[in-house]
Amino acid sequence: MKTTINTLIQAATDAYAHAYAPYSHFCVGAAVLDEAGTVHTGCNVENAAYPSGSCAEEQAIGSMVAGGGRLIRAILITGLSDQPITPCGACRQRIREFAQSDTLIYIHDQHRGTLGKYRIDALLPDSFGPDNLSKS
Ligand code: THU
Repeated sequence: MKTTINTLIQAATDAYAHAYAPYSHFCVGAAVLDEAGTVHTGCNVENAAYPSGSCAEEQAIGSMVAGGGRLIRAILITGLSDQPITPCGACRQRIREFAQSDTLIYIHDQHRGTLGKYRIDALLPDSFGPDNLSKS
């Protein structure tokens, strides 16, 4: 597992280095480990029309889906901030879509290293998900 975390840290850090954040100057990188063991990355991509920007997690999950992945085994988010960068509300829901109860969500900082580890239920309790749409 240590090797996996280090792989995710490196992958997310590489994506972080490519973040496009000319407006907030708040760069974020994310790396997702899918059910096949493949790692997918993303960074935040801002836009002059501010609401059109996207989060690092959103990009990483989109990359996973485009690559055929359907399950997030682990996701690591990295940046450089005084406060741990936990996923925004919309990204919690995006993670929820492809998470299981044992999916791990790691929070990492470029200076301080790994700061925390969460499960989706802690970040998005009593959530609405795919099961809610299945007919009885
Ligand atoms: N951001 C992310 O990419 N992920 C997060 O978990 C928090 C926020 C981005 C969105 C925006 O480009 C910048 O960080 C400031 O909110």
